[in-house]
Amino acid sequence: MSHPVAVFVSGTGRHLENFASLAQAGELDVDVRLCVSNKEGVLALERAARFGIDSLVLDPGRDLGDEAFSREAFAACTARGVELVLLAGFLRKLVIPQVWEGKVLNIHPSLLPAFGGKGYWGDRVHQAVLDRGCWFSGCTVHVVDNVYDNGPILLQQVVPVEPGDDVHRLAERVFEAEAQAFPEAVRLHLEGRAR
Ligand code: GRF
Repeated sequence: MSHPVAVFVSGTGRHLENFASLAQAGELDVDVRLCVSNKEGVLALERAARFGIDSLVLDPGRDLGDEAFSREAFAACTARGVELVLLAGFLRKLVIPQVWEGKVLNIHPSLLPAFGGKGYWGDRVHQAVLDRGCWFSGCTVHVVDNVYDNGPILLQQVVPVEPGDDVHRLAERVFEAEAQAFPEAVRLHLEGRAR
């Protein structure tokens, strides 16, 4: 039986689409049951609808504290029988309930612990990599704990920074690596082969 998963998003939802397509093609043994967004009107919600995935927009006005937000988000997952939560471009602090520890994965567009933590998201990450003159960047899939970008690392993929790169070109190259790394990390995790 496919593993029921939820994907949490705040933006374009490219990984949501990737997971849903891989599941549809029988290349990844997941059933994307729920998309949780903390933003209204984002492209990710359209992608979810296109795949017939249930979505929930939670607290777009930021009225809830982080704990109350997290309780509601994970309660929605529990109600749908979700066993693994995938953060894919999700830009809100979560407080992981104890029963969910080890069951929430995130992808970050750098080689953690470099260029991670509060404030490092989206193009800011790639700009910082370029400003520092790094020769390599990449992506990291890790287990989420209660500190930003801090939990155990499941998988990393390295990409070169090419001379003349700008943020856009580097971001594109890193995303290509992400599109391989995230499903592979999910596979390893579900099969109990993660190191
Ligand atoms: C990816 O770069 C991922 O590393 C980061 O968010 C991006 C995906 O979100 N966490 P989106 O498809 O751009 O909304």
